[in-house]
Amino acid sequence: MSAIASRDVWKRYGNGVVALRGVSFSVERGRLVALLGRNGAGKTTWIRIASTQLLPTKGTVEVLGFDVVSDPWSVRELIAMIPQEGAPLDILTPFEFVYSYLLIRGYGRSEAKKRAREALALLELEPYIKTTIGELSGGLKRRVLVATVLASGAEVLFLDEPTLGLDPLARRSVWRALREAKKMSGTMLLTTHYMDEAESLADEVIIVHQGKVMFSGSLEEARKATNHRFRVEVYGDLEIDGYDRIKLKGMTIFYVGEDETEDILKMAIAKGYDATVKTTSLEDLFIKLTGEKIEEGV
Ligand SMILES: Nc1ncnc2c1ncn2[C@@H]1O[C@H](COP(=O)(O)OP(=O)(O)OP(=O)(O)O)[C@@H](O)[C@H]1O
Ligand SMILES: [Mg+2]
Repeated sequence: MSAIASRDVWKRYGNGVVALRGVSFSVERGRLVALLGRNGAGKTTWIRIASTQLLPTKGTVEVLGFDVVSDPWSVRELIAMIPQEGAPLDILTPFEFVYSYLLIRGYGRSEAKKRAREALALLELEPYIKTTIGELSGGLKRRVLVATVLASGAEVLFLDEPTLGLDPLARRSVWRALREAKKMSGTMLLTTHYMDEAESLADEVIIVHQGKVMFSGSLEEARKATNHRFRVEVYGDLEIDGYDRIKLKGMTIFYVGEDETEDILKMAIAKGYDATVKTTSLEDLFIKLTGEKIEEGV
């Protein structure tokens, strides 16, 4: 049995927007999956359905075998989630917040205290455990939420942009905490706009675009799917016959092998455009699948 199974999930909101158009994928237990997609791709909509906060228009999601629509209470016992725009209660301290959350989830007092302390330490929040949350910075508040869901010990975690607004070091502190939590065999699905975060953390990636799954597979498969070794970014509109290119506003991106990079650079310079060459990464698969592609030749 999969930890998460999404089958042909559709969502049409009341205003007529169709946010999901048949989303199917599955996640095995103990895996950490990054759900990637541009703004408005449907990530939050899917997470809200999977965490029993929103009904799908069609299709099913099962969490550890329980259907999120027909059996929401069984699902709620097994999951914990961080909403995209969530923040912990301002009037409590981080310790009080995590501790009371654990009591509500059914832990006894001494176990709740122990778990709260451990999770806050894991997120390097010890210096702040007695500060009122309202006085903490946005990034620290976000880390309190991460500590809270990790402390829950829930079997499946949904994290909608857990590192939103975090500085580069704080992000790494969250990554470390998530890796630690994974060792305890939790299954996690997170969304992020940081490709380095997905590369550093995820076992698998799912790329959604306009409500559809464009790619799902391991990081290794994602890297292979990029095909070319180099990305040449030209800061201007450049057309060269015989090359696939992706046009963004004021920029043209070419995917090529080593031999061809020089040709493109020369042509860019001849036109007076700046250009950079980078080795390809997950970001390139993302750009290829979600950017506006212009195919020419092969
Ligand atoms: N409550 C709502 N009512 C109507 N339309 C909505 C609602 N919530 C989201 N949408 C629309 O559904 C689509 C998907 O939105 P969603 O928030 O799921 O995207 P997302 O992938 O999480 O984007 P982001 O990366 O910006 O968080 C968008 O077109 C959005 O405008
Ligand atoms: Mg979102």
